[in-house]
Amino acid sequence: MRATRPRRSLWSPAEGPGARGEPAGPAIARRVRSAILLVGAAVLMTGCAIGGDQPGELPQDALDPEGPAAETAHRLWNIVFPIAVAVFVIVQGALIYLMVRFRDRGQAAPPRQITGHTRLEIAWTVIPALILAAISVPTVAGIFELAADPGEEALDVRVVAKQFWFGFEYLGEEGQDVITANEMHIPTGRPVHLTLESLNPQAPDTFDASDPEGSRSEQSLEGVIHSFWVPSLAGKQDVIPGYQRTLTLAADEPGTYEGQCAEFCGLGHSEMRFEVVAHEPEEFQRWLDEQSQPADSDLDGLAAEGQDIFGQNCVQCHAVEGHPQNADVRIGPNLTHFASRDQFAGAVFDVDDREQLAAWLRDPAAEKPGAQMPDLGLSEEDIDALVEYLYTLE
Ligand code: CUA
Repeated sequence: MRATRPRRSLWSPAEGPGARGEPAGPAIARRVRSAILLVGAAVLMTGCAIGGDQPGELPQDALDPEGPAAETAHRLWNIVFPIAVAVFVIVQGALIYLMVRFRDRGQAAPPRQITGHTRLEIAWTVIPALILAAISVPTVAGIFELAADPGEEALDVRVVAKQFWFGFEYLGEEGQDVITANEMHIPTGRPVHLTLESLNPQAPDTFDASDPEGSRSEQSLEGVIHSFWVPSLAGKQDVIPGYQRTLTLAADEPGTYEGQCAEFCGLGHSEMRFEVVAHEPEEFQRWLDEQSQPADSDLDGLAAEGQDIFGQNCVQCHAVEGHPQNADVRIGPNLTHFASRDQFAGAVFDVDDREQLAAWLRDPAAEKPGAQMPDLGLSEEDIDALVEYLYTLE
């Protein structure tokens, strides 16, 4: 005789709901009800988010496209999602029905074993193949549409991804060599053609527009994978070290569209954000003209002191056009118009927040884990003067 081990089961009377002499049926029903409530609550909570500027508007909503690239992706979603839902409901419905209908009622003999059913097998091979073939038609068309060259009328912007912030460069005559960070400004109703690169956050970016491929140093190309994503304007574009990737997007209406890095890239990944600010074309041109002006270096008082301290500690990494010691180094963000921006440090802190800016200068990595800016050991007086100087960079 073989000794049978006691069967451990979720519902076994020794430890399950019936253990305290309570009938198992209602207890199971209660558990099932709680499970359904829990799953239902979880599904409902996925709809929770902090709203955008308008009521009912979410800051990063791929289901509310605000430009042609996002609309193309959304159109595909509108086709694929209902089909996926139908497949899910049919398959899960059949599964649940069969589980309930043919459940072990304790008295039945083992069922007749079936091996193979040619017609069924052909059916569940051919049907998914047909569905996938049908979906591939608009998908492939959409891929080609999104990858198409936007042509001469597009505005070219070079996007640089570093740990943990994005930089934006408007190069050439039209862009007036404007370089900014954390905020990409674009004109409405016009395609913007992005060339994206991931670079080493510790090395100078040696890019020269007259030799786009060859000018970058080996060292500067040692970046990590990031992903550029503005959900309401376009799909994600992974940024792979050593490659120049492209993405075309456009915004229909003026406004601020939030974006973020969508690929884990290190400690500061979740704090690698940015904004796309779309203006009417004339307003955009005005912005570009302002940004191409050098900073005012004719300062006095505390701001002048700050300018000196910046020259001693910061010009090795940050460019400020117009600063007497500006070395045009592209390691950290270009700060020429720092005070005209809304946010800094990967768009996680408000520029207007004086206390926050001082705390950042005191110890960057304490404010944003993984930040590559070193703790420069500045005195409180130095920090005060630097903050005053940074606020003159409008
Ligand atoms: Cu960059 Cu995540």
